[in-house]
Amino acid sequence: MLAACRCKDVDRPPVWLMRQAGRYLPEYQELKGQKGFWTLVRTPELASEITLQPVRRFAVDAAIVFCDILVVPDAMGIEVKYVPGPVLERQVRTMQDVRELTGVDAPVQYDYLARTLEMVKAQLDGTALIGFAGAPLTLAAYMIEGKVSPDLTELKTLAYNHPEVLDALLSKLVREVTQLLLLQVRAGADLVQLFDTWGGRLTPDDYERWALPAARQVIENVRSEGVPVILYVKGAAGKVMQMATSGADALSVDAGVRLSTMRKRLGPKQALQGNLEPVRLLGPEQGVREGVARIIGETRGRGHIVNLGHGVLPPTPVENVEAFVDAVHRSAP
Ligand code: CP3
Repeated sequence: MLAACRCKDVDRPPVWLMRQAGRYLPEYQELKGQKGFWTLVRTPELASEITLQPVRRFAVDAAIVFCDILVVPDAMGIEVKYVPGPVLERQVRTMQDVRELTGVDAPVQYDYLARTLEMVKAQLDGTALIGFAGAPLTLAAYMIEGKVSPDLTELKTLAYNHPEVLDALLSKLVREVTQLLLLQVRAGADLVQLFDTWGGRLTPDDYERWALPAARQVIENVRSEGVPVILYVKGAAGKVMQMATSGADALSVDAGVRLSTMRKRLGPKQALQGNLEPVRLLGPEQGVREGVARIIGETRGRGHIVNLGHGVLPPTPVENVEAFVDAVHRSAP
């Protein structure tokens, strides 16, 4: 996994899946029972167990710590509920709202996360451990919109009317996301992924004005720890060359991007992660295997971390996740 992030030689490309621990897994459902999502996240015994579930079942090459990107607004004083989509108790719209956000005392408020990572790390044998955070723009989107809101109307309205408010929010978030990632690296994460899920919804100019500098700043801040950084953007197609200037070691792209084209444009030094269409795992197993062969063919398995273009969908049959991982394990570059 680490070699692939650095575009070094590998026997075969590594594989893991975004949202590999979650609702499609019967053992997750069983553990979840009646417990709330936050209880799972904040109980290291449970969170570490959930993190390890897909590693045991599929022998994926990386574990991603069981947590959520919205721990940050919650720790800053805006309560987040999952109903089941996330809903934030209030929205950030003014400079006063930004001022009222609390600075997070990371070692105290994220103590559960550090303990989860330590517990997972102690049980892994060679499997890479991934820490993660939402990128500032994506967290700002949730804090401004208050919920999943793909058009980002409120965020864009704020950007065009009161850019100073969005700048102030993003600079607070750069600090908070940096702390969160550093805490995870110090607790044992071997690499980190920054999820800029909503960055792809901005125009290229706005991406460059708002999302990219904030992500780049975070990446620069964690660079001294020496761990690889993966930058994910959903709907990345028109922005991959901009993402490439973020300083990330690997760019994680959705299924709308052709990896062979990307490889040509990026050159051999920046790794790619992705990008099978997640809905493909709702189809026949043969299609999953063909899809895997196709994406590995596009990179020839070099500098490539095989993954989906976005998270595993809850109705995904477990057998298709198994086939996805198995197809990569059998591939020779
Ligand atoms: O397995 C893993 O990938 C690790 C855990 C993980 C979760 N969320 C657990 C989770 C990770 C990496 C995330 C990231 C995350 N969370 C993102 C970025 C990636 C992406 O999907 O674009 C975003 C935007 C969120 C915000 C969020 N959290 C949403 C939109 C939802 C609800 C809808 C959904 O797709 O599940 C959550 C809740 C959440 N986070 C669940 C899980 C397993 C479902 C909770 C449940 O069991 O009901």
